[in-house]
Amino acid sequence: MQGFADFADGILGGALLAALAVALGGVVFAWLVLAPGSDAAARALRARCAGLVALSAAALALCQLAALDLKVRLLAGYLGPDALTRFLATPAARAGIARAALSAALAVAALALRRDPDAPVRRAVVWLLAALVAVSGAWLVHAAGRLEHRDMLMVVTVLHQVAASVWAGGLVHLGAAWRLGRRDPAVGALWPHTVARFSRVALASVAALCVLALPLASAYVGSIAGLVGTGYGALVLTKIALLAAALVLAAGNFGAVRRYRHSGSAAGVRERVPIRVEGETILTMVLLFTAASLSSQPPARDITHERASIGEVVEVFRPKIPALRTPSVRAVLDDDSDPYAVAGGERTAVAYSWSNFSHNVSGLALLAMSAVALVGIASGWRWTRHWPLGIAVLGVFVLLRSLAVDGIRPFGPNPFWATTLGSAEDMQHRLAGLLAIALGLLEWRARQSDGHDTRLPYVFPALALAGGLLLLVHSHAAFEAKSSYLVQVTHTAMGLLAVLVACTRLLELRLAPAAGRVAGAASCVAMLLVALVLVFYREANVVVPLP
Ligand code: HEM
Repeated sequence: MQGFADFADGILGGALLAALAVALGGVVFAWLVLAPGSDAAARALRARCAGLVALSAAALALCQLAALDLKVRLLAGYLGPDALTRFLATPAARAGIARAALSAALAVAALALRRDPDAPVRRAVVWLLAALVAVSGAWLVHAAGRLEHRDMLMVVTVLHQVAASVWAGGLVHLGAAWRLGRRDPAVGALWPHTVARFSRVALASVAALCVLALPLASAYVGSIAGLVGTGYGALVLTKIALLAAALVLAAGNFGAVRRYRHSGSAAGVRERVPIRVEGETILTMVLLFTAASLSSQPPARDITHERASIGEVVEVFRPKIPALRTPSVRAVLDDDSDPYAVAGGERTAVAYSWSNFSHNVSGLALLAMSAVALVGIASGWRWTRHWPLGIAVLGVFVLLRSLAVDGIRPFGPNPFWATTLGSAEDMQHRLAGLLAIALGLLEWRARQSDGHDTRLPYVFPALALAGGLLLLVHSHAAFEAKSSYLVQVTHTAMGLLAVLVACTRLLELRLAPAAGRVAGAASCVAMLLVALVLVFYREANVVVPLP
């Protein structure tokens, strides 16, 4: 239960922030972006926007209730039968219930607005409820539990959340406007104007969220040592990297809008902007999942004893000779220590060697695949298209190693489901193995089809994205030991890189061939960096004697 709860909490937190963004972002999008006017096309856009707000507000209410339910179940494990009563007495529980109720009310009000998108009273009710939903979040963040600058941090976090929602949620609404415009030429005619208005709103919201991030980072991280040496800091760095990647796409869109404003030419806005908006949307949604993961970890400032030094983190990524010898399955099964135990004192040399070999060999295989894929882009040689088969073989390797280490049949006496559902680590490693097998086979098939199969090529970016997200929300103990952090930081880096592999591959598929090739090469380079993290992986920097 604990394992599943940790895993579900990460996913649920991200889904909750994504739903919040689409709901709040939609309200602002309708107000500041959608062209005013009483013609049918403008009304259709506003109605579509209200519909999406209703849907996301309903999803937010459900996610919030599920998150509360999960908390009560977890607390029941510690507090017994009166967990619910004691939980309901906390400000966080009351704020959670209030947010669920307000979101449900917002869903109903937005549905009413959808039927008549220009009714001023309905619009005002939607505005009021959206503002209350945003404010209720103040008691659900770290700030509410701080002793110093509590009120200021609550306000700043909510404003940062709202600015993030206006950008990330607005992108979802922009994408919806594009899709509606493809079916309805009158709506399509409004597209360049809509993009131009959104670009101003997006610019202002990104500037605001960056400015607001400064006091948050200063209050919760406080120093470079905290940024590099804790799980919280690593996630803040991940957010900065994702933000930079999203801004690269945003800059392209901004340039297209400027050309449209100055020359009236809408070619770029119509051809490339929708594709880049798709990539930007994915990156901002991943940012929201990362933010949720961040807010479930103790702030870096509170981790004083178990911080890793900058030198120790550099050591994690520094080039090292990979371990190419593994302990036998027998030796692992005879080893009493928990194979996924917090890296540190209770880990034996056998457990370390087993883990290092698994990671290093996977890295070497991925390195070879990335090199072949890069050669393929440079040369166009057909045989290089078979490289994805290597991912499937790697998936089998990961799955078998994860079954062996737990002594699951046929390697030992244990049944599959008992261990898989009992530990978040076990479940994530099994899912990663299965995901890799599916990913490899489908991508291999897609690359053989020479573009005739129009859907299959999208499975690879979708699954790579899912894998990246899984790594970014990878659950960890509340106050994790330094040795665990030294492992986590590699997984966080790989999660970030997997997301970049996915987004650049998507761009490769969607953009015109010349730009697509550049995106394809970027995708292979990101894959190569994942490979290098794995090749140089040495668990928690512990040097173990060769088996
Ligand atoms: C300059 C880069 C950024 C930094 C340094 C940063 C930093 C932070 C920090 C320190 C928090 C407080 C989390 C807590 O309560 O412990 C936070 C919250 C949050 N951030 Fe950012 N952030 C950045 C960019 C972004 C971006 C680009 C987005 C989304 C598009 C975003 C979305 C959020 C959200 C939604 C929260 C609230 C999380 C929650 O309450 O569950 N942030 N951020």
